[in-house]
Amino acid sequence: MKLIIAMIQPHKLQDVKKALYDAEVYKMTVTNVVGCGQQKGYTETYRGVVHEVNLLKKVRLEIAVNEDFVKPTIDAIIQGAKTGRIGDGKIFILDLPQCIRIRTEETGNTAIG
Ligand SMILES: Nc1ncnc2c1ncn2[C@@H]1O[C@H](COP(=O)(O)OP(=O)(O)OP(=O)(O)O)[C@@H](O)[C@H]1O
Ligand SMILES: [Mg+2]
Repeated sequence: MKLIIAMIQPHKLQDVKKALYDAEVYKMTVTNVVGCGQQKGYTETYRGVVHEVNLLKKVRLEIAVNEDFVKPTIDAIIQGAKTGRIGDGKIFILDLPQCIRIRTEETGNTAIG
């Protein structure tokens, strides 16, 4: 099992959700976050004063999947989120040792899917 964490542009969330839906990936956790990547944010002038804005709004997706859904999930995120411009986002893939559905106490592959 893998835990896929993706940071995407907020305005691409609907496109990513549609692509995930088409790939039959329905379970996800979505959080509004702030962050910065290799551009370290940007500067903005407000009332003549230059401010460094180094934390930009992003959306964080967390999707736990069985091995056969890893590639379809990653492909769907890229398809929905990619514009080719800086800030498109990033995907982190982590090994997931265990998952438990609390209601039934099922574990592992049965609990995740
Ligand atoms: N190494 C990292 N560790 C933790 N979070 C990161 C890391 N890189 C990116 N992020 C998160 O992902 C978001 C999107 O990153 P972003 O797409 O700007 O990556 P990038 O490496 O700067 O690539 P690009 O040059 O395409 O912008 C960041 O705002 C931040 O929240
Ligand atoms: Mg960046």
